[in-house]
Amino acid sequence: MLITLVVANQKGGVGKTTTALNLAASLSAASRKVLLIDLDSQGNSTTGTGEEKDKSEHSLIDVMVSSEYSLERIIEPTKYKFDLIPASADLISAEIELSSLPNPTTILKNKLKDLGEGYDYVVIDCPPSLGMLSVSALRAASKVLIPLQCEYYSLEGLAAMNKTIKEINDATGENIVINGILRTMYDSRIRLSREVSKELEEHFSEQLCDTVIPRNVKLAEAPSFGMPALYYEPDAKGTLAYLALAGEIINKFETSVVTI
Ligand SMILES: Nc1ncnc2c1ncn2[C@@H]1O[C@H](COP(=O)(O)OP(=O)(O)OP(=O)(O)O)[C@@H](O)[C@H]1O
Ligand SMILES: [Mg+2]
Repeated sequence: MLITLVVANQKGGVGKTTTALNLAASLSAASRKVLLIDLDSQGNSTTGTGEEKDKSEHSLIDVMVSSEYSLERIIEPTKYKFDLIPASADLISAEIELSSLPNPTTILKNKLKDLGEGYDYVVIDCPPSLGMLSVSALRAASKVLIPLQCEYYSLEGLAAMNKTIKEINDATGENIVINGILRTMYDSRIRLSREVSKELEEHFSEQLCDTVIPRNVKLAEAPSFGMPALYYEPDAKGTLAYLALAGEIINKFETSVVTI
């Protein structure tokens, strides 16, 4: 059954793209069929996979505005074991393109339903803004994963995400919940990081992922070579952490799947 794993946080630079990209690589290394969708016009997941932005004839927005086009039309294989829907420049004008359509934020969810049995996971990398595309992704999610850095403003970012999700639920009747909170770029030598981490353990024990992603330069270097870290430095601490996270997700989420 398809699990749509949405990686979101309104706060920028918290590790959404690093998480989406390396989870796609790690889940596919665990023999899961994975599709990575880059919803951010910055296209960091796309270039981090070694692919180009705006190369394709049709974009995700083209598919979303046309009732005839399906997602299959824009799925591309990567050099790795997972497929990709790359970012395109028109993602930036999604609001304008989509707002005249009926129920625009349900289009992605419905298109994903039509994907059928081809994939075990769709991993969606969201932009830092909470526009129509992020709302579309959240409405399509079977599981929502929030990466955050253990620093002062992260808890505020988490509260903001909670508020946004509640507003979406109230407005749409959806029942979106935060299923996973992931500590990223963790440095145990920093006292504030340890304190924030402890606070998360106390208040969000159910959602908090056991896996902690350490600050690791290999994770930051790999995208500039167009590689997920697993292919750039398989033994790096960061690579191993994302493999562990994939294992945790498989154990937790594959036994409690909610259909989209
Ligand atoms: N665990 C880590 N260790 C070291 N560097 C990291 C780690 N995770 C992410 N980075 C680096 O931190 C920066 C921000 O990460 P990333 O692009 O994944 O965040 P983001 O939330 O997707 O950002 P945006 O909101 O702009 O989309 C990048 O330069 C990335 O390489
Ligand atoms: Mg990003």
